[in-house]
Amino acid sequence: MANQAPVAWVTGGTGGIGTAICRSLADAGYLVVAGYRNPDKAKTWLETQHADGYNNIELSGVDLADHNACLQGAQDIHDKYGPISVLVNCAGITRDGTMKKMSYEQWYEVLDTNLNSVFNTCRSVIEMMLEHGYGRIINISSINGRKGQFGQVNYAAAKAGMHGLTMSLAQETATKGITVNTVSPGYIATDMIMNIPEKVREAIRETIPVKRYGTPEEIGRLVTFLADKESGFITGANIDINGGQFMG
Ligand code: CAA
Repeated sequence: MANQAPVAWVTGGTGGIGTAICRSLADAGYLVVAGYRNPDKAKTWLETQHADGYNNIELSGVDLADHNACLQGAQDIHDKYGPISVLVNCAGITRDGTMKKMSYEQWYEVLDTNLNSVFNTCRSVIEMMLEHGYGRIINISSINGRKGQFGQVNYAAAKAGMHGLTMSLAQETATKGITVNTVSPGYIATDMIMNIPEKVREAIRETIPVKRYGTPEEIGRLVTFLADKESGFITGANIDINGGQFMG
């Protein structure tokens, strides 16, 4: 039988925060299509989700930096499962280093994966959403796009750029049943954070007023709230979720 559930596409769905977002949306009744980069990891990941009872999670492997691949990927999801109602842009990488040491490759890799990808996916779903008069786009940015971070000129630029796209697209779609919002997590307990040198990481934790890292589930809850059809009055917003580390 064809899928009847609303469809959510979560890029970076197999990652630390992405997994929690997928599960939270799946709990809320969506058919969730998780984007991934590494096919072997994704296969095992999907087996785990299904073994845990999340049979309404599927996979889509698209190179998000490739514009045409994104267009095709979104069309494939549409043809297989139905129109995409929710897009969550959660794919992201770090290539930290101070400016004096940062290579051209470190800059472009992060801009491609973290920002150009967002144009590519939004462009891929926008006509579908306009046609259906409904959509929810949620861009997962970062506290470091809000305040900057030593060693992250590339990442902070991409994450700040994301919110510029959010605010502009929100204005273009406000009368069309589509909302576009940014979520800016602080330091969340995932592999990305654990890869920061321990001394640096501990110093960062001390600056978080609640004195702990966030959990991926806390991000999942917020994303699912924004994805709800009852959340239609929230658009163009940036929502910080950072334990009080930055209050802008
Ligand atoms: N503030 C001020 N000075 C700092 C500093 C900081 N946060 N961190 C390092 N320095 C200083 C060092 O003490 C050293 O000073 P001296 O030269 O006077 O001795 C100097 O800067 C070192 O500079 P280098 O260019 O040699 O830096 P490095 O190669 O040793 O490492 C780094 C720099 C890779 C950026 C390292 O500091 C680091 O990994 N920092 C963490 C960056 C970070 O927070 N990333 C977040 C990842 S998680 C994420 O991004 C998710 C999210 O959305 C929140």
